[in-house]
Amino acid sequence: MLIRNATTEDIPAIAMLETACFSDPWPEDYIGRRLDKMLVAEQDGAFLGYAALASVLDEGSLDSIAVVPEHRRQGAADALLAAMIRRGRERDLSFITLEVRASNGPAIALYKKHGFAQVGRRSNYYEYPREDAILMTLVL
Ligand SMILES: CC(C)(COP(=O)(O)OP(=O)(O)OC[C@H]1O[C@@H](n2cnc3c(N)ncnc32)[C@H](O)[C@@H]1OP(=O)(O)O)[C@@H](O)C(=O)NCCC(=O)NCCS
Repeated sequence: MLIRNATTEDIPAIAMLETACFSDPWPEDYIGRRLDKMLVAEQDGAFLGYAALASVLDEGSLDSIAVVPEHRRQGAADALLAAMIRRGRERDLSFITLEVRASNGPAIALYKKHGFAQVGRRSNYYEYPREDAILMTLVL
């Protein structure tokens, strides 16, 4: 499996995966403006998934991570998240935060596996369907 920087050629695949996974998917033009914050996982030329890490000063935020349904449970998210954490350390970030739907067991397990801890909860943060967000942080 290869983890690499996202390019303009990845925009359609990222947008399609966003639409498949999230009720408020990022449009293609938004993805295009954020490519420098994204990593892609691929295998034998096939797109497996992506992750996006934004930062302001020394604060990182994992804005998205998703893997194509037929390629899940094969370690792609593990590899993407490990690469993002390395990137955060290289950029001297102090911590990485994220929000996740309270019912998203697979994602919460992924984040805990990589050392993120729950630091808060926002009531009714998400829409469609309305749901609380769990706030998690990894101190680097
Ligand atoms: C969450 C998601 C990114 C995991 O991707 P993945 O490539 O299947 O994950 P991996 O195979 O790398 O698994 C890594 C770890 O995640 C956790 N995990 C992943 N899928 C899981 C599941 N279905 N149930 C429980 N834990 C799971 C486990 O801790 C796993 O480690 P393990 O294999 O040692 O048990 C994927 O399910 C997905 O794209 N979901 C939809 C998008 C989404 O919800 N993104 C998060 C938004 S906050």
